[in-house]
Amino acid sequence: MKKVYVINFGSQYVQLIARRVRELDFYSEIVPPSVKAKDLKEVGALILSGGPASVYERGAPLIDREILSLNLPVLGICYGLQVITHLMGGKVLPSKKQEYGRTNLKLLKEDPLFEGIPKEFEVWMSHSDRVEELPVGFEVLGSSENSPYAIIKKGKIYGLQFHPEVSHTQYGKEILKNFLKRVANLKENWSMEDFIRRKVEEIKEEVGSSKVISAVSGGVDSTVASLLVSKAVGENLICVFINHGLLRKGEEEEVLKNLRSIGLNPILRREERRFLERLRGITDPEEKRKIIGKTFIEVLEEVAKEFKAKYLLQGTLYPDVVESAGILGSAKIKTHHNVGGLPERMNLKLLEPLRELFKDEVRELGKKLGISEEILNRHPFPGPGLAIRIIGEVDEESLKILREADYIFLEELKRSGLYKKVWQAFAVLLPIKSVGVMGDGRTYERVVALRAVESKDGMTADWARLPHSFLDKVMRRIINEVKGVNRVVYDISSKPPSTIEWE
Ligand code: XMP
Repeated sequence: MKKVYVINFGSQYVQLIARRVRELDFYSEIVPPSVKAKDLKEVGALILSGGPASVYERGAPLIDREILSLNLPVLGICYGLQVITHLMGGKVLPSKKQEYGRTNLKLLKEDPLFEGIPKEFEVWMSHSDRVEELPVGFEVLGSSENSPYAIIKKGKIYGLQFHPEVSHTQYGKEILKNFLKRVANLKENWSMEDFIRRKVEEIKEEVGSSKVISAVSGGVDSTVASLLVSKAVGENLICVFINHGLLRKGEEEEVLKNLRSIGLNPILRREERRFLERLRGITDPEEKRKIIGKTFIEVLEEVAKEFKAKYLLQGTLYPDVVESAGILGSAKIKTHHNVGGLPERMNLKLLEPLRELFKDEVRELGKKLGISEEILNRHPFPGPGLAIRIIGEVDEESLKILREADYIFLEELKRSGLYKKVWQAFAVLLPIKSVGVMGDGRTYERVVALRAVESKDGMTADWARLPHSFLDKVMRRIINEVKGVNRVVYDISSKPPSTIEWE
């Protein structure tokens, strides 16, 4: 299979480029600039991403010059164009006028890259350097007011000063498609059906008759990963649902029902006691997380031993892979979920069948596997559960109050059709009491904070502008129905500077 490699120079759009290529049904991967010419045997086209550096500065990321002499189709975008120019002997300098936002672009010549596209259109620019001198043998195909060399070409090597991957660029998708189909001559090779077929074969071959253990949460990733693996290994997949006592109201029943409805038959481990005893007296959020993580691994380890599992299934997604590779511009190394350290300690091999996919591709895969919209559209729920939504000590009474308040909030959101419109919503229980009046009496009770956010990936978020009448209704129900609460507040913080969870 001919792949499309996207070389990551640190642009905020790098994942978007890879997504766009896949939307056009070509398989793409993101690779670091250190990739070598000899690693490109299976590659049908290269895209060089944008990035924050300047090619003329010391230490700026570049690629092996040899790559540009392989006769591979190459598309350089923004910084990628400048890398091509720099490596092939042209000149890149700071531009007197920076160009940000929409700009008019004029095509100067006909070219397969612009087949079916008008001579003038709007593009999205975001650069402070520009090409001042073309490398030998290159020609100019298009220009904008501030970038005389906005599109350059030599053979199958192209450079664009603008960003075809962003939706503000008109005909951006057509340009990418022309590059892949007309310039690189690639055939579409990426569809969900192919992916399922390929993965099932791969998993069968790798796992053989060994047992695979999967900690399911009812969330999208672990559900989709488990169902996919069960297609390959059938009964040898052991799904385990661990109730750590920090679940929401009705969650255990709901998750079991959902998983059974798609043919997964999870083993239930009720470990509320073990978790809550260890959490007693603990108020520090990091410490809570550590205790929960460690205890979770302990339980999983017991189950894995019991069933003599050889593999551990994890729903790692592509953004996690890119992030943990520590590729330029993303120095943060993420440790995955709640099971870090388990595989090595137990001699378990990791199985990560979703590691090539983006979140929305996981949803699409889930749909193809027959998982209901209701499961696929579930809000994210953190591994440590309600422990990070009870500020201060986690005890039975706090859990009871929070469960009731949270349930009312979610129930009303679902009833009013707002659940689907927000990324995540929940209640938080604060460790303070405040004064109130009920009837003729004075009360001194707990405060519940409601949090609802809009987001694309959880990395940034804004508070959801829920209607006042809706919030009013939720407030009334919580104060009337949940014993121990006399005040409800709504969180209007964005992320950053706040986070989604309160911890
Ligand atoms: P924050 O609070 O960091 O949350 O803005 C971003 C997203 O991540 C979820 N989250 C977690 N998920 N284990 C998880 O599986 C965790 O420890 C955890 N902490 C936060 C959070 O719910 C939000 O969707």
